[in-house]
Amino acid sequence: MRAVVPAAPPRGAGRPGRPVPVIVGYGHAGRDLHHRSLTALAGCGTVPEGEVIVVDRVRPADPLPGTRWAGSLPDALAALDAPESAVVHLATPVADRIATVRALAAGGVRRIIMEKPYAEGPAAARELTALVHEARIELLTVAVWPSSTITRQVAALLAGGRIGRLVSLHLEQSKPRFRRSLENGAHSSAFEIELPHQVLLALHLCGAADGVEAAWSWPLRTEAGSVPALGGAELRLRHRSGVVSTLASDLTSPVRVRRLRLRGTDGEIVAHYPISGDDPFGQVQVTGEPGRILLPDAPLTTFVEDCYRFFAGTGGRPAGSDPQLHLRVTELLAAASAAAVPREAPSLLGQTEFPAHEE
Ligand SMILES: NC(=O)c1ccc[n+]([C@@H]2O[C@H](COP(=O)([O-])OP(=O)(O)OC[C@H]3O[C@@H](n4cnc5c(N)ncnc54)[C@H](O)[C@@H]3O)[C@@H](O)[C@H]2O)c1
Repeated sequence: MRAVVPAAPPRGAGRPGRPVPVIVGYGHAGRDLHHRSLTALAGCGTVPEGEVIVVDRVRPADPLPGTRWAGSLPDALAALDAPESAVVHLATPVADRIATVRALAAGGVRRIIMEKPYAEGPAAARELTALVHEARIELLTVAVWPSSTITRQVAALLAGGRIGRLVSLHLEQSKPRFRRSLENGAHSSAFEIELPHQVLLALHLCGAADGVEAAWSWPLRTEAGSVPALGGAELRLRHRSGVVSTLASDLTSPVRVRRLRLRGTDGEIVAHYPISGDDPFGQVQVTGEPGRILLPDAPLTTFVEDCYRFFAGTGGRPAGSDPQLHLRVTELLAAASAAAVPREAPSLLGQTEFPAHEE
């Protein structure tokens, strides 16, 4: 049964003190990720129970229960008595973000949780960072892997010296992404899809990197034709700590993989993040130690909860959400995209580990 969607939000939402969730952009990220996280957290003490205002140009065909739709940002802002109490989840495609943040700031909104990627490129990232600073907006950009219990476990193992000194990080985040890439022109290269999450995690675990050592990309080939650089990408970073990160994302992969491998001077850690929200568990194993460590893991929900705590003044800034860090991720991805050498998609035959280019 479909939920009823009232068309016009009543005035009175957003009284000071009580956060009112507003989701701008109700596609995959807005509905399936942010709204589901809010539903899971509703009533937990930090996220309020009750309706969520959803702003999308298109009336949602199948909204989650408790949705109140507004067809435009001005309509949604007009419904808020105290826009400074709203928590806006910005989940539109990256191209519209700066204009939307400007309109939100002009409307009095001060708390935004924004989807990745941070910006279309370094110039837009700098413009957004300046805008956020001038308008005194708390902008928290989604940082999925830094909020993961798997990452926290891995960081604790590293800090405890379980594999000695860290030498290399390898993160593969691959999945079959044919339909969405062909139907939806929101992304022009594989550097914009999974790699923002991957670069952020590499900086989070291994520290700052001065630049990109090498990068590759491959086309998305189907019977309908070939789209350059949308089939997958790989890049290598050398961190100031000396650690080398290799980050790979094959969007023509027949299977979903979210595997982190860390090599140290005295051993190796292999970790798998949950492959979707359907089964929120990840696993970690340390070489030479028996058994896998199984951990419940719902990183986006954790991140959203941490954001609401931060806005309420009861928690610190969520890990990996700092605009300056996302600005750096944008710069590194732009450099990788510009330097990427075209190659063919990795072979399926004889492939036990990915990619072939690893040192
Ligand atoms: N964190 C993650 O794991 C994750 C996963 C998927 C997508 N994303 C990111 O989320 C963003 C959105 O991706 P998506 O897959 O949900 O796209 P989508 O195309 O499924 O949905 C976008 C929605 O935004 C609406 N929209 C566009 N411009 C708007 C505007 N100005 N005002 C109001 N509504 C507007 C569209 O009508 C559409 O419903 C992208 O930046 C993407 O990279 C992040």
